[in-house]
Amino acid sequence: LTDTYTLSNGVEIPIVGFGTWQTPDGDVAKASVEAAINAGYRHIDTAAAYGNEESVGAGIKASGIKRDDLFLTTKLWNADHGYDNAMKAIDTSLTKLGVDYVDLYLIHWPNPVQYRDNWQSVNAETWRAMEDILKAGKARAIGVSNFREHHLDELYKTATVKPMVNQIFLNPSDAQPELVAYNKAHGMLNEAYSPLGTGKIFAVPELQKMAKRFDKSVAQIVLRWSLQHDFLPLPKSVHADRIQQNTELFDFELSHQDMQVIDAQAGLAGEYTDPDTATF
Ligand code: A2P
Repeated sequence: LTDTYTLSNGVEIPIVGFGTWQTPDGDVAKASVEAAINAGYRHIDTAAAYGNEESVGAGIKASGIKRDDLFLTTKLWNADHGYDNAMKAIDTSLTKLGVDYVDLYLIHWPNPVQYRDNWQSVNAETWRAMEDILKAGKARAIGVSNFREHHLDELYKTATVKPMVNQIFLNPSDAQPELVAYNKAHGMLNEAYSPLGTGKIFAVPELQKMAKRFDKSVAQIVLRWSLQHDFLPLPKSVHADRIQQNTELFDFELSHQDMQVIDAQAGLAGEYTDPDTATF
């Protein structure tokens, strides 16, 4: 879990992150983050919108890990787009998390409902703030989440620093090969949120068969698939045994044929939220 990918600005990022979307705020978030760090995760992913930044910060503190030994990501919420709002939002997140900097700061969605008519100019201003946040050292790397090709094409018209990451809904049910290739071609790491299809992939018979053959769980098979595609999976769990299990990915390898079988599971589970029609 201490293996890293290198982002386009040279920052190293541990190849599996601990996801906290849908992890309830309070003791659950605190305990699961602490358990994850104790299990060896060195990369924690949260967001202002998850409403659990304070508990995530408390879990990090409780683990006793040194701040610099941890890679921490948070995200800018839709209500905070625009230059001034974004500059304030990062400070709020840092205060809640109880840290001086995050390792990665992402624009959470490209297209908040209140900016449907002018998202292009609003994103340009928000991105200008992201660049200043990077310059100020409040984030070591910056990027986006849920952006599609047309949102990025637009951003590149004014950006002076290119995003280093695009974090997207990415699992065998929704492998998004075109967007993945686009991100790669533009120097962005593909981070996979909901790498387990929010839990909906476990019932897929082909995956169950493969898991049996490897004496692994379906979760482990799918996380391994993610790594072998050079994605950075962010599995979420609130159970210590699963948190641990999701780290045990390095003692087996899927063949080319296994990868193809998993690639063919498109559409079987999980739902991709189209940013252009999302109602938030
Ligand atoms: P829980 O948090 O109760 O353990 P994703 O990361 O794709 O969003 O999926 C998370 C979902 O998968 C959650 O419902 C989580 O449940 C469940 N989950 C995570 N890891 C495992 C695992 N190793 N085995 C079974 N379920 C898992």
